[in-house]
Amino acid sequence: MLKLTFLGHSCVYATDGKYKLIIDPFLEGNPQANVSPEEIDVDYILATHGHADHLGDSVEISKRTGATIIAPNELAVWVTRKGAKAHNMHIGGSYKFPFGKVKLTIAHHGSAAGESGLEYTGNPCGFVFTMGGKTVYHTGDTGLFLDMKLIGETNPIDLMFLPIGDNFTMGVEDAVRAVQFVKPKIAVPMHYKTWEIIDAEPDDFARKLQGSGVKVVILNPNQTLEI
Ligand code: NI
Ligand code: MN
Repeated sequence: MLKLTFLGHSCVYATDGKYKLIIDPFLEGNPQANVSPEEIDVDYILATHGHADHLGDSVEISKRTGATIIAPNELAVWVTRKGAKAHNMHIGGSYKFPFGKVKLTIAHHGSAAGESGLEYTGNPCGFVFTMGGKTVYHTGDTGLFLDMKLIGETNPIDLMFLPIGDNFTMGVEDAVRAVQFVKPKIAVPMHYKTWEIIDAEPDDFARKLQGSGVKVVILNPNQTLEI
C-alpha cells in the first residue's frame, strides 16, 4: 500500500504507513499549497534540483525533523553546508533505503539555488523509487527524452508524476509522448497553473491519453491517492 498526497506544483507526500517522505517540498510561497512547512513530519526528502520551486523548504524541514535529503551530489553538498542532513547520490545510481529503493534518472533541465538563484547545484534529476510494494517515477522538471522508454522498460512503473506546464518543462503534447514512452499504469500531471506562464490544462492531457491504456488521475492540492 502506498498513499500519495499531491501538495501542489511538484510536491508529493508519500507514506506506506510506516515511513514518510516528501518530494520537492515547495510549500512556503507556493500559491497551490495549503500546508505549511512546519506541519511536515517526514523521514526522507527527495529533492530533484536546486530551483526554489523544488528544493523549497527542504533545508528547514530537514533541520527541524532530522529528515535525510536524498539529492544529486552537488545539491546534497549544498544543503549539507546549510546545516541539513543529506544522502548524496548521482544519476544512474540506486540505493536501498529502509522504505525502498531509490534510483536517480536524468532530467533535461538546470539546477541552481541560493538567494541569487545562481549557486550551482549540479545536474537535476528525476526519481524512480519503490515504497509499499509500488514503483513511482517522479520526473522532476524535464523536457521530453527518448531514454524514458528505457526507464519504463527496466522499471515497470505503477505511477508517474510528470510536468505538463510547458515553458520550463514539457508541455501537454510532449508529456503525452512521455507517458507513451514510459507506459505507467497511472499518470498524474504536475507543474501547471502555479503561475500564469504554466497555464496548461490537465483535462487536455487526460483527453489526449484516452484509449492509451494509461489511467490519468488529476489530483488537486491536498488530494490523496492510494495505490
Ligand atoms: Ni526547475
Ligand atoms: Mn520547476
